[in-house]
Amino acid sequence: MRTVQVQLGKRSYRILIGGALLVRLGAECRKLGLGAHCAIITDRNVGARYAKAALASLKAAGFNPVLITVPAGETAKNLKTVQFCYDQLAAHRLERKSFIVALGGGVVGDLAGFVAATYLRGVAFVQVPTTLLSQVDSSVGGKVGVNLRSGKNLVGSFHQPRLVLCDLDTLHTLPVCELRAGLAEVIKYGIIHDARLFAWLEKHLPKLLARDAKALATAVARSCEIKANVVGQDETETGLRAILNFGHTIGHAIEAISGYGEYLHGEAISIGQVAAAKISAALLGLPERDAARIAQLFKQAGLPTQIQLSPAQRKKLFAAMRLDKKVSDGEITFVLAKQLGEVVWGQKVPPALIAQVLAD
Ligand SMILES: NC(=O)c1ccc[n+]([C@@H]2O[C@H](COP(=O)([O-])OP(=O)(O)OC[C@H]3O[C@@H](n4cnc5c(N)ncnc54)[C@H](O)[C@@H]3O)[C@@H](O)[C@H]2O)c1
Ligand SMILES: [Zn+2]
Repeated sequence: MRTVQVQLGKRSYRILIGGALLVRLGAECRKLGLGAHCAIITDRNVGARYAKAALASLKAAGFNPVLITVPAGETAKNLKTVQFCYDQLAAHRLERKSFIVALGGGVVGDLAGFVAATYLRGVAFVQVPTTLLSQVDSSVGGKVGVNLRSGKNLVGSFHQPRLVLCDLDTLHTLPVCELRAGLAEVIKYGIIHDARLFAWLEKHLPKLLARDAKALATAVARSCEIKANVVGQDETETGLRAILNFGHTIGHAIEAISGYGEYLHGEAISIGQVAAAKISAALLGLPERDAARIAQLFKQAGLPTQIQLSPAQRKKLFAAMRLDKKVSDGEITFVLAKQLGEVVWGQKVPPALIAQVLAD
C-alpha cells in the first residue's frame, strides 16, 4: 500500500492507495475517532458491486452503517438528489458526530461531499473513489458540489475528506472508456508538473490500459502526490491551484455545448489539452516536438484529440468559454505550458488563435 499525505494543517488527511483496501475501510475509519453511526452514499452501479463489502467492513469495525443509493451518472448530481440524501440521513437519525462514506466515482464523491458539508452544518466524510478519474483527481482537494440546470458545479463548497481510500481492485470493473477518461487527468499531471511522469506514461501506457496493478499504483500515487502538493499550497484556488485546469477552458466548453453524455469529461479535456499545447507552442515557445508528443500520448490512450465544429457550434463554444466560472472580467484565460512539466496560468489568448488551433 502507498500513502500520500495532504498537508492542510488541522484538516490534513491521508490518501491510501493499493489493492484489497475496501476490506480495511472500517479499520481505517476507526483510527479517525469518528462516531459510531454512518451512511454510505453510493450509486446503483457501484453499490451493486461494492456496497456489501463496504458495509461488512464498517460493521466488523463496530460501526453502525446505513446505505443510501442514488441513480448513476452526471444527471443525478443535482439538488433533488441532495434533498433525497438529507431526508434519508434524517430518517436514520444521523447526528453531528456521524460520518458519510462516498463510495463511487466523482459524481458520488462531489454529491456526498456536498451533503456532508451541509447536513447539520457539516459532518465528517470519507472518500472511497472507484473510478480512475476520482482516484487521481476529484476525491482529493475538498471541492464538493452539484450541478444546476444552468451549469455544472454551480453550487458547492470546500469540505476536505478525513481520509481517501483508493482500492485499485475496483478499477477492474470500470468500463474501458471511463479508464481512458481517467488517464486524461493522469497525463495532465505530467504536463503541468512532472516531465518524468510524462515520459513514464509514454512507456507504460499499454500496462495502464491492461490495468496492471503495479503500473496503476504508480500512476495513481504520483497523480495524488501532485494534486496534494498543489492543494496544500492553495486550498481554495486563489492562484496556483488553477494549473489543475490545464486543457479545461476548452474542455468545459465542449462539455457545455455538447450536452451531458456525448463527451466524457476526460475526452473533452483531452481535446482541450491538445489545443492548449498548440497554443502554448504558438505563444510560449513550447517546442513543437513536445506539443506533438502530447497529442500522440492522448491518441495512444484512445482519447479524442480533435473536434469538428460547424460555424454555429464554434460560436457556441466561444460563448461557453466566456461563461466559464474561471473567466474573470470577460477575458478568456488559459493555463499554458512553457515546457513539459512547467505551466503558467492566467494567460490571455487571442480568440483567433483558439479558433485556428481548433480548426487544425
Ligand atoms: N471535486 C473535484 O475536484 C472534481 C474534479 C474532477 C471531476 N469532478 C467531477 O467528477 C465527476 C465525474 O466523475 P467520474 O468520471 O468518476 O464519473 P462517475 O462518477 O459518473 O462514474 C462513471 C460511471 O462509472 C460507474 N462506476 C464507478 N465506479 C465503477 C466501478 N468501479 N466499476 C464499474 N462502474 C463504475 C458509475 O456508476 C458511472 O456510471 C463530474 O461530475 C465532475 O464534475 C470533480
Ligand atoms: Zn478535470
